[in-house]
Amino acid sequence: MKLNKTTAGNIFLFAAFLMGQVIISVTSFAQTIIPVQTQHNALVIAAEKDKDIRIIFFGKKLADINEYKLLQGAYKQTEEYTGLASSVYTPSGSRNLLEPAITVTHADGNNSLDLRYVSHRQIKVDDNVSILSILLKDPVYDFQVTLFYKSYFREDVVEQWSEIKHGEKDKVILQKYASANLHIKAKSYWLNQYHGDWAKEMQPEESRLTHGIKTLDSKLGTRANLFQPSVFMISLDKPATEEEGNVLYGALEYSGNFKIDLEVDYQDNLRIIAGINNYASPYTLKPGETFTTPAFLYTFSDKGKGNASRQLQSWARNYKLLNGNGDRLTLLNNWEATYFDFNETKLAELIKDTKKLGVDLFLLDDGWFANKYPRNDDRAGLGDWQENRKKLPDGISSLVKEAQGNGVKFGIWIEPEMVNPKSELYENHPDWVVKQPAREEHYFRNQLVLDLSNPKVQDFVYGIVDNLFTKNPELSYIKWDCNAVIYNAHSAYLKNQSHFYIEYMRGLYNVLKRIRTKYPSVPMMLCSGGGGRVDYAALQYFTEFWPSDNTDPLERIFIQWEYSYFYPAISSSNHVTDWGKQPLKFRTDVAMMGKLGFDIVVSKLSANDLRFCREAIASYKSLKDVIWHGDQYRLASPWENDVASLMYVNAERRRGVVFNYLVSNRYGAGSKLPVKLKGLDPLRKYRISEINLYPGTYSSLENGQLYSGDFLMNVGFNPQVNSGRASVVFQIDEEL
Ligand code: GLA
Repeated sequence: MKLNKTTAGNIFLFAAFLMGQVIISVTSFAQTIIPVQTQHNALVIAAEKDKDIRIIFFGKKLADINEYKLLQGAYKQTEEYTGLASSVYTPSGSRNLLEPAITVTHADGNNSLDLRYVSHRQIKVDDNVSILSILLKDPVYDFQVTLFYKSYFREDVVEQWSEIKHGEKDKVILQKYASANLHIKAKSYWLNQYHGDWAKEMQPEESRLTHGIKTLDSKLGTRANLFQPSVFMISLDKPATEEEGNVLYGALEYSGNFKIDLEVDYQDNLRIIAGINNYASPYTLKPGETFTTPAFLYTFSDKGKGNASRQLQSWARNYKLLNGNGDRLTLLNNWEATYFDFNETKLAELIKDTKKLGVDLFLLDDGWFANKYPRNDDRAGLGDWQENRKKLPDGISSLVKEAQGNGVKFGIWIEPEMVNPKSELYENHPDWVVKQPAREEHYFRNQLVLDLSNPKVQDFVYGIVDNLFTKNPELSYIKWDCNAVIYNAHSAYLKNQSHFYIEYMRGLYNVLKRIRTKYPSVPMMLCSGGGGRVDYAALQYFTEFWPSDNTDPLERIFIQWEYSYFYPAISSSNHVTDWGKQPLKFRTDVAMMGKLGFDIVVSKLSANDLRFCREAIASYKSLKDVIWHGDQYRLASPWENDVASLMYVNAERRRGVVFNYLVSNRYGAGSKLPVKLKGLDPLRKYRISEINLYPGTYSSLENGQLYSGDFLMNVGFNPQVNSGRASVVFQIDEEL
């Protein structure tokens, strides 16, 4: 963080180095100004000792830190009426009458809370990351909240969370306990939110926020994002575009129930209150115990959505996603090729096909386990993680060997949090199952959820993974599925049912932490019947996610497009399948915009199809560094154009790849205009060459032609997409 020294007036700046910790603030007579600054942005907080603390600014940062003191004059308002003065983390039951961030019932039954500023400190973790903490206390009750702001300077990302603690005589009930509370001022606010369902994830909707509260939430327990994820964007003053406008991206780093309240208040401020959903979850906090909320992450861009998403993607690769800057395995999955119907001979063929195709790994999907109630469809066997003796008499280990013999790796599907009522697991441990003791069971995909709040269940779930690796040390990949939501939420283990949803998630994270302690780097795919659970708390443990079971390439363009605003390409598992009417080339070109995989019957491919796939995989391998680690630019949206285009360019701006897809078949749709590329160096020369040509077809582009970056970005390049060339991929290489 850079500081400007000043001696001016009543302002002084002090930086004290205390045992490696640096405290930074600007203090005037009346108040302390605490800026949370990143490379381009600032969240500015004003605090008075033992008094109120409020957010006075959020947006593009000022060049001079000392001018933040002038902000309050710029925004005049009558905060005393509603307690907006405590906008940094609004308590309830005292002066605030708007939506609170925190509500408590004290040990004596009193429902009021006030939170006054006590102190703050800033720790520099390294040259990019700092953590600011602000201590707030109730002047009457022995109750405190510490707010944390972890800022990533270069990426312009802030993670914010809270720690809640008290020293009262008895337990305190936390009725609401948000992670963060932001307060923004603009003329108008435009929300871009998402909704969906199975095979229909990430459907965007944009609307102007009106006065009152708009809530984004989930009460599904597991698979919490099925109908609505916690990711959203807020444009200020007018809807931001890819290239222009002020836009905030927000997301809760949590895999369970979440709640995000967006309140446009009577003074036209936008108040964002994000955290765990308090639905059915008042939390009993013992004296001395600390309740830590999950982090709410946000980034802000004054240069539109594209810039915001590149910030977020690079943050994810650098700090969150497991092995975000590393390598990934291309694979062949057997789900759509066989469903539950396979045996050793069939799998041996598929393993040979994996080699033939030229991908790194064979992924065995659902159906390999359970004996008393064999897993031959989705109605039985879930929970009994022993190899099915009929299908696999020689077990997984023989398949792993078979794979090794063919020079490919082997991965396996599990769904360890779940149980079919028709299973030995259910028979032996009915008390491990989430269900209401006195009510009829209600199923989602014929299954129930295991009670991960119970440490024995955590051991069991951990054991599934650990056993697989212990018995098969060469196992190279896990697909972790989660196909049911939680109905009839009740734990036979917990005394306090109100803690169930929270303890479930703690249990899940405990298990994932244990797995990662012992197996730190094995790639794992986060799947939830498609993209029912994609979030940055889970992605710390996973290398990739499954965006949707919908692999129709046309739909996938839209689904992958929307995910790409929040998640980097390296994390998006895109498989070529037989869904949709498009030719193999189109399906492959679409899957290549993320982490490429296949789920097709290789033996049924024609010679040309196979040749095409092999060549495409070879091209992908030569370009994967650009796709996985480069900057992504969305050039032409599928929602607004006949041809959707997006590109990746490496950090050195020497190499790029551009994907173009026809998304409309009306009136001779195709690329009428050149598409303007982005992220290149205007002064360098680039050579263009079309790749992924189907055998026997020829490129209609002027391959090999040199263009300046200036030309490609200002005039553009026409990929000549039309119904005969429905998808076109070309690479760009700097001419050295
Ligand atoms: C879920 C997954 C699929 C597949 C099936 C197996 O639906 O999303 O990819 O693994 O389960 O039952």
